[in-house]
Amino acid sequence: MVTNIHHVGIVVRSLEASYRFWRNTLRLPLVREAEVKDQGVRAALLAAGGSEIELLEPVAPDSGVARFLAKRGEGLHHLCFQTADVGGELAALKGKGIPLIDAAPRPGLAGRIAFLSPKGCDGVLVELATPDAPEPKLDSPVRFKRLVISCQSPQETAKTYQDLFGLPEVEVNGGPRIMLGWAGGSTLLMVRVTEVGGMEGMVALSMVAPDMAPLIRRLETANAAMLIGAGEITIEPQSSHGVHLHISRYHFP
Ligand code: CO
Repeated sequence: MVTNIHHVGIVVRSLEASYRFWRNTLRLPLVREAEVKDQGVRAALLAAGGSEIELLEPVAPDSGVARFLAKRGEGLHHLCFQTADVGGELAALKGKGIPLIDAAPRPGLAGRIAFLSPKGCDGVLVELATPDAPEPKLDSPVRFKRLVISCQSPQETAKTYQDLFGLPEVEVNGGPRIMLGWAGGSTLLMVRVTEVGGMEGMVALSMVAPDMAPLIRRLETANAAMLIGAGEITIEPQSSHGVHLHISRYHFP
């Protein structure tokens, strides 16, 4: 059973350069930054409301993250669920025959972590994490809302995620899309691959902000490529390190 989306991992060419957008322009506060030797990365976690954004810069040329960057460029890399017991979760998944990358938890930036094979999660690299201590509550002007996953069958992928992780389904108004996660919190939206031009896996990130005007000013100052709609900004991937990013107006309760 997982209790939250802990973070979404984004591969970047340079942590320093990505800070200009994610820390300075969006104003996501830094939780911690460290080199994670066995993953061959220098990584940072930034607070974004109920979930976090993890930025990963490869520092070892033979690491998985370096290969990802060489092959696909910057962009969404993995999804991390929070659980109170990563060891127990891993044992249960192993018992169900789910392919794992890590047979046992190891230390990571988010606490004790383990990666599952994307083969068992419809092409998405999933990490499980049990934080060592409660994360500091940092206020952020832009908050995580939703990760969009493109798949052949939203019904089947949603069922896979419910079976593996016990994710609750969030009420949506029928239709082919399915939303899993926590009402009022972080969610996953499963959409059909034909809806998003044929690309499978994690395809977009939605965030919310209570006050759009200062955010738009900061994005303009940073020369971000974007479309400004009624109550929503769409930031082009070249300005957000490979991420299709939507930010909509939302008044926090
Ligand atoms: Co991670």
